Amino acid sequence: MPIEPVQLDLFCSFQDLSPSEKTIHPRHYKETLRKLLSEDLDFHGENSGYATHNFHAFPAKFPPQLPKKFIIGLTLPGERVLDPMSGSGTAVLEALLLGRHGIGVDIDPLALTIGKVKVTPVDLGQLIRSGESVIERATHTLRFKRQELKAALAARFDPPTKKFVDYWFLGETQLELLALIQEIEGISDHNVCRFLEIALSSIIITKSGGVSLAYDLAHTRPHRLADKVPRSPIDEFEKRLNKNLKHINKLAWGAGQAHLVCGNTQTVGIADNSIDLIITSPPYAANAIDYMRAHKFSLVWFGYSIDSLGRMRGDYIGGERIHNFKMANLPAYAEGIVSKVSEKDSKKGNVLRRYYTEMTLSLSEMFRVLKPGKAAIVIVGSSIMRGIDTETALCLGEIGKTIGFDVVDFAERRLDRNKRMMPARKNALPESQIEERMHKEHIIGFHKSSRPDS
Ligand SMILES: C[S@@+](CC[C@H](N)C(=O)[O-])C[C@H]1O[C@@H](n2cnc3c(N)ncnc32)[C@H](O)[C@@H]1O
Repeated sequence: MPIEPVQLDLFCSFQDLSPSEKTIHPRHYKETLRKLLSEDLDFHGENSGYATHNFHAFPAKFPPQLPKKFIIGLTLPGERVLDPMSGSGTAVLEALLLGRHGIGVDIDPLALTIGKVKVTPVDLGQLIRSGESVIERATHTLRFKRQELKAALAARFDPPTKKFVDYWFLGETQLELLALIQEIEGISDHNVCRFLEIALSSIIITKSGGVSLAYDLAHTRPHRLADKVPRSPIDEFEKRLNKNLKHINKLAWGAGQAHLVCGNTQTVGIADNSIDLIITSPPYAANAIDYMRAHKFSLVWFGYSIDSLGRMRGDYIGGERIHNFKMANLPAYAEGIVSKVSEKDSKKGNVLRRYYTEMTLSLSEMFRVLKPGKAAIVIVGSSIMRGIDTETALCLGEIGKTIGFDVVDFAERRLDRNKRMMPARKNALPESQIEERMHKEHIIGFHKSSRPDS
């Protein structure tokens, strides 16, 4: 997949500035950031499914209220908000809804498509017509053109991808999925096509039910349930589409702009000193949430081969491949944690060193693109490796300081177990330390000083 550089015009419009939103005086900026960090950041019980936020399941997405709070508190309409690991585009959508210019970068093709669909206005009437036609024609093909459909299925995948598809999807499910996909692929309007693809993908990557033989794909390492009776893709697609359409129906898109691009957070291709706020939530260390593991179930249906997805996975932050990886020198505290893990398991120690190296590059890039005097809000959770807490927030805080950031404060937030999808640990007691750590996360408030020495 080609990596498109972000091309940004350097013009910002403040015409829509609402009188209630005023510039924060630089003297009060850090104080404002500290205050925001001290407030309730849990947002339990709040509705996070408004606008297009719930179009597709996404592991460890943050509640929209979190970016919203910092966007309102630290930026003005028209200003640029960047999420360099944008996932399903929560922060970018919030920026758009709040009249800012949201920019998202992510390496994962499914994340990117989900994000783009969430921020792209589409004509409701056209969507309804296209959706109905896809369902009608797919049903017809399934009934009356089975031989052609079987031939198309046989020709669709290369052998390794076919092996994967055959293992995880029943033959009848495959035919139904392909009948839908062929119709979606035939739609000439790119935005409508993407919208329908995401509705289809969300019936594959789902917490319960789902059309594959996997159990709880959105949530955990996939387990194959041979006796599972998967649901009908056409029925599920219709239900999901109607649900997503209802949200579009009520939506006011906001006065902002949104751009989402495929790229690597370590080299985002954005101009120096051009971003007004960064808000992001990087992957956990040690691949605690393996995005590709679940996303490939959907991406194989959209033209990606299983081998190409495997290669792509090597560039995700938190990956486990360390061969030929150029490791950075880490500051003392992070080095100490890596050494502790290495003493127990040298391979795991190197995996953690890789993570902190990648995050060093990512934080350096954030520092470069951020305007002086502005903030980067980084939301992280700790992982446990060989029984040792990776202390991710403290280590990233320390790494950020070596890059030039000032750490204004750390805050903590408790995850809503019912909402934020984290790796499930089936056998752990709810009170166990690991569970506890996986269900809280830290928010680091970085500030890039206006003066290099302050
Ligand atoms: C915790 S998720 C972000 C979730 C997001 N805040 C949301 O609300 O949906 C982390 C994201 O980092 C992305 N990522 C991993 N490695 C990356 C890299 N090298 N460059 C850019 N994005 C990367 C993953 O694809 C994933 O979407």
